[in-house]
Amino acid sequence: MDNIITIDGPSASGKGSLTRSIADNLSFDVLDSGLLYRAYAYLYEKGVQTSEIASYIKNLSFQFNLNDVHVYDNKEEITTTLRSEKIAQVASTLSSIKETRKNLLEIQRSFYDGHGLVADGRDMGTVVFPKAKLKIFLTASSEVRAKRRHIELQNRGQEVNMRDLIEDIEERDLRDRTRTLSPLIPAEDSVVIDSSTMSLDEVLSFTKKLAKKEFDK
Ligand code: DC
Repeated sequence: MDNIITIDGPSASGKGSLTRSIADNLSFDVLDSGLLYRAYAYLYEKGVQTSEIASYIKNLSFQFNLNDVHVYDNKEEITTTLRSEKIAQVASTLSSIKETRKNLLEIQRSFYDGHGLVADGRDMGTVVFPKAKLKIFLTASSEVRAKRRHIELQNRGQEVNMRDLIEDIEERDLRDRTRTLSPLIPAEDSVVIDSSTMSLDEVLSFTKKLAKKEFDK
């Protein structure tokens, strides 16, 4: 078993905040795999050849802290671009292509150096880290997730219509769930948490208890 906690689930389910909080609590490293798919989409949109994208991604700088992550392409900060709904849609489309998943597999695994890792994504527990000690599948209703994403985008100064947001989320969910490769499904040995009526603190304390049980053995 690897010293890894995987946190999979649909977009805006609160995976990012939970991942950073639990990693901070345990002094583990963080892998935000969705951000790698978004970086892949960003470089694709810039016209980089798909066979070259993995090496370009290695040259981007990812800076994680408790509250957020910042990504730099050379000296230029590209975090806001990566977080936009446009890049999310491109990432979602590209993520159903076999070559994309293959190109990103080793980069994702390289985030684990044996110490401890919290990995956030869609297929962390099923494909990328099947030997993780603890696997969480975090979900919430699409309305609740759209509300959370709305607040997140507003805080970043981006204005998005709520109805468009729900439609985008449901469209992306459907594509992520029904794709043939690494579909968004809970690993058989995962703990499913529906956070629709839970606060982040409640989800965090529940996950901390699970982690304590697994990592204190
Ligand atoms: O978690 P996110 O919204 O940042 O992810 C962006 C897109 O990347 C998402 O629509 C699907 C894809 N993705 C994936 O296919 N596999 C992952 N492990 C993470 C993200």
